[in-house]
Amino acid sequence: MKSIQSKDLDLNQKKVLIRLDLNVPLNGKKIVDTNRIDKIIPTLDYLLKKNAKIIILSHIGRPKGRIVNELSLKPVRDDLVKKLDQEIILINQKINEIKIEDFLNKNCNIVMLENLRFYKEEENDDTDFAKKLARLADIYVNEAFSCSHRKHASVHSITDFIPSYCGIQLVTEVNSLKRITDNIKRPISCIIGGSKISTKISVIKNLINKFENIIFVGGMANNILKFKNYEIGKSIYEENCENIIDDIFNLSQKNNCKIIFPLDVGTGKSKDDKSIIKNVDELSSDDMILDIGPKTISLIQDIINSSSTILWNGPAGYFENPNFSNGSFEIAKKIVNRKKQNKIYCVAGGGDTVAVLNNFELTDDFDFVSTAGGAFLEFLEGKDLPGIKALN
Ligand code: 3PG
Repeated sequence: MKSIQSKDLDLNQKKVLIRLDLNVPLNGKKIVDTNRIDKIIPTLDYLLKKNAKIIILSHIGRPKGRIVNELSLKPVRDDLVKKLDQEIILINQKINEIKIEDFLNKNCNIVMLENLRFYKEEENDDTDFAKKLARLADIYVNEAFSCSHRKHASVHSITDFIPSYCGIQLVTEVNSLKRITDNIKRPISCIIGGSKISTKISVIKNLINKFENIIFVGGMANNILKFKNYEIGKSIYEENCENIIDDIFNLSQKNNCKIIFPLDVGTGKSKDDKSIIKNVDELSSDDMILDIGPKTISLIQDIINSSSTILWNGPAGYFENPNFSNGSFEIAKKIVNRKKQNKIYCVAGGGDTVAVLNNFELTDDFDFVSTAGGAFLEFLEGKDLPGIKALN
């Protein structure tokens, strides 16, 4: 991988197309956690210092090829303007209509294209779309490790059409995760939660032979509870996962990996509700599972006590409402406690998990915190990530 910090790379007045992951959690137009933005400021500062002209590419959310106004990058652009103290133009034009010189000139050093996932071509890894993006600039930089597991046009096929480099943050993430996976100490417990069930469920099968315990919390656990025939009411879950979950349980038996899932949960009638704790066999059809309960917390704490390494991706509940953040908080507290006693090595990854840790001011207490969620899990799987492979 060639880095943008290579000594022989002249960035002066070069147009640099930089793929970032500005997929930050939003509450309406408000950014809930700016970690992914904060992390890439040094890279943008570096490019500005080298007199580069910057074209920012990113997605936010999953608009699935349609323009969804609520998923505009405008709030992210506004936050970046404040942090960089630079004007940034958000370009809404269709990619093939953009004349980049109309925007990038002596008065403007940075532009941002609107959410790439407003185009279906992005997720289809469409080569024509990638070509159209590439023609906007002289150099491409992948500074989105957390999107590098996606074979999408702005991460993958674009590298066929323009000299491509890796960003500063991407190199740090890859090197740190490599160090961790090379020196990992057993027993290893992996806590998997969050709401991106479809992304994660298929990865888990390949993690079973690597870990002693896999702990399901958050939206991920709902699928397990449903598979075990518990009523999950109106809780989120992913359709058609029965075969995968069956495989997960079969493989875990063969590989001596313990699968842990909730015994009790924090429920509400809506996400804005207060939490009512119920055993998993007590839910009614209008309940939503929005947190884990005290028995489950205590079970997880015991497992953390007997582990040497903890890998955590995905919150234990709907932490955006403090009434449902207790499970995530108790898990984080316990991990940090063991870490302070030098009993464990702990790594967390993913936009929401980092938001949880920031919320409780516990981020600095972890050994390593990755911005990546899905990419973090696929890296642990030992997979070649398409975005990284393309840079090689
Ligand atoms: C992430 O949040 O993990 C990345 O932004 C990728 O998002 P995705 O899971 O919607 O592809």
